[in-house]
Amino acid sequence: MPSIPARPRNPFTATVGKTPLVLAGRDQYLRDFDAAIQDGPGSHERISIVTGPRGIGKTVLLNEFEAVAKTHSWYVISETTTRGFNDRIRDRAFSLLQDLSDEPKQRLSGIKLPYLGFDTEAIPSFSPTPTLRSILEELFDRQAELDTRLGQEPVGLLITLDELHYAHMDEIIEFGTTIQHLVRENREIAIAMAGIPGAVKPLLAADEGRNPVTFLRRANKIETGMVPIEEVRTALDKTTEQVGISWTPQALDHATKATGGYPFMIQLVGQHAFRNYTGNTIDEEAVSRGIGDARRKLGQLVHEPSIADLSEVDRTFLIAMSTDDGPSRMSDIAARMGVDAQYAGNYRKRLIDAEMIRPTAHGFVDYELPYMREYLRSHHAAEAMEQFSIWPE
Ligand SMILES: Nc1ncnc2c1ncn2[C@@H]1O[C@H](COP(=O)(O)OP(=O)(O)OP(=O)(O)O)[C@@H](O)[C@H]1O
Ligand SMILES: [Mg+2]
Repeated sequence: MPSIPARPRNPFTATVGKTPLVLAGRDQYLRDFDAAIQDGPGSHERISIVTGPRGIGKTVLLNEFEAVAKTHSWYVISETTTRGFNDRIRDRAFSLLQDLSDEPKQRLSGIKLPYLGFDTEAIPSFSPTPTLRSILEELFDRQAELDTRLGQEPVGLLITLDELHYAHMDEIIEFGTTIQHLVRENREIAIAMAGIPGAVKPLLAADEGRNPVTFLRRANKIETGMVPIEEVRTALDKTTEQVGISWTPQALDHATKATGGYPFMIQLVGQHAFRNYTGNTIDEEAVSRGIGDARRKLGQLVHEPSIADLSEVDRTFLIAMSTDDGPSRMSDIAARMGVDAQYAGNYRKRLIDAEMIRPTAHGFVDYELPYMREYLRSHHAAEAMEQFSIWPE
């Protein structure tokens, strides 16, 4: 009996942290990073910080940097900046060192690792506690020896740190100090970090007499933004092409525009339009239905959770902003809310701290998250009408 041809799997990846089948618009960053790996120690892009709002593709960019590093046979340690991350990196580095070594115990005779149950009897009386720095130095020494012996290009180590947050300032300073030493020693190391702007900015600012995180300040800053619309079109097209499905020109055009260049939306629009394909084609109707679903999903996954924990007044402030088509003037917001400037100013600060809004030009604020305005207009319009008598009938 002839088998029924299988319907291809949906090729879009509308999941946070998941690398898409076709990456849109990040080529230059990858080329720069690749060049930095080849240029050698000291090249600027070897220490990079990626910032941008939720869903803009920061984690995906870190994944891609890891892929680039692996094409050069580099080691990769991938971590999130939660408590204890220095220890976890040290432990990962230690296991890399063990893998590298034929006779780890001999090589490691100066390093005591009680938590790994190491045999301490053979170790001389003074055995310094292994630190992230000592283990990484050992790893770099060992690898450099091997590279020389084999006459090969130096093999380095990339550490990625996602969800960078000032709440872990002390550990980040500790990490930075170690990395600074290694950089000064011309080790083959690269660091790529990522976080939302509100969580990263305080790390870059001077901090009441404390050691600011110098290595962060000097780092290559990558501010990820929207993907240019032409590259969205290519990415949507190439993604479905891989499973043998094509778009009608109007459908592709419509879908491309609906993403607004926002990476999470590229995947959501693609995914939901794909669900409606007929024959081997995604047509205009499939896209129109898909866009509605994608918007709803974006609201559920990104916007709704982000406002769920806010107070009533915080939310009122955000809704008051949604009347404007661009950044909102503080005095307008205060007038719409029927409060004085100082009261509105307090909520402005709260919302900046909560990473919901950011100051733009003097006296103006805008939403941090893409499509927040549209979300509030469609979900909280009634609420807004009730509250702000200033709004037109
Ligand atoms: N360059 C890109 N082209 C196409 N899709 C992308 C691109 N970058 C990311 N995506 C998609 O966008 C979504 C969000 O990506 P990612 O998780 O990397 O965002 P993020 O900035 O790390 O978000 P968060 O701040 O919530 O951690 C994922 O579904 C991913 O597949
Ligand atoms: Mg992320």
